[in-house]
Amino acid sequence: MTDTTTTEAAEMATAAPLEIPVLEMRHVSAAYGPFRALFDVSLSVGEGETVALLGRNGAGKTTVARVASGLVAPTEGEVMVDGNDFTGVRAHRYAKAGVVHVPEGRAVFPDFSVEENLTLAFSRTHDRSGVRDALGRAFELFPPIAQRRGQIAGTLSGGEQRMLAMARVLVETPRLLIADELSLGLAPIVTDEVYAVLTRIRDAGTALLIVEQHIGHALALCDRAILLAHGAITWKGPSPEAAQAVGASLFDSS
Ligand SMILES: Nc1ncnc2c1ncn2[C@@H]1O[C@H](COP(=O)(O)OP(=O)(O)O)[C@@H](O)[C@H]1O
Ligand SMILES: [Mg+2]
Repeated sequence: MTDTTTTEAAEMATAAPLEIPVLEMRHVSAAYGPFRALFDVSLSVGEGETVALLGRNGAGKTTVARVASGLVAPTEGEVMVDGNDFTGVRAHRYAKAGVVHVPEGRAVFPDFSVEENLTLAFSRTHDRSGVRDALGRAFELFPPIAQRRGQIAGTLSGGEQRMLAMARVLVETPRLLIADELSLGLAPIVTDEVYAVLTRIRDAGTALLIVEQHIGHALALCDRAILLAHGAITWKGPSPEAAQAVGASLFDSS
């Protein structure tokens, strides 16, 4: 009740603004030519936070991932990265700001070796000695990939290709990793391995936006969930409530 306390309280109120999210989408709509894929989507991912983005095939999950990493520009609304306006900014600037995207499917060059795939990816942002260091870190983080550094990427198993795709973007600890359907087409035991890597990445402080149809893994990993249907958000909440809130509709489709 002294003056000091009052002053301290006032200082705290002004000196501690609300935490700025790593990623914020505000009222985003997006389209492919005349086809409207997203309608008024608002979401945010805070520092170190983990969010699962769920929904049936065609719901717009990949489009959200593309908008969130600068691959698709919104037709309406804004995208903020660390509080800065990134609307319409190119994808490489998102990557530079630490927002990285592991796309759907086998995002590797199938005719190049594992090491060539990584060297190509790292050369875009590193000089020769930087590439060497980055290769060392990638092989440390993904031992199965290190054992196959000379192997042609197209001959890797599905799980190994996903790990290579992750290794390409994980050379610096990202602020936010957006991963699109990492479990698609993988055997359950391989999905477990891929999710074990995601867990390590989360524990190192990287925020995650995990796009999945395989909702069990995503909900186990993530704090919060967002459900998308027909290009719009239909539910948001804590992961433990998600299975009940959205489960029936999603489990039906898997
Ligand atoms: N490049 C594209 N050109 C035209 N339409 C697209 C393109 N990509 C996706 N779409 C359409 O946008 C909608 C949402 O797709 P998408 O974001 O890939 O959904 P999800 O990842 O949830 O399966 C779908 O109807 C899909 O056919
Ligand atoms: Mg998709």
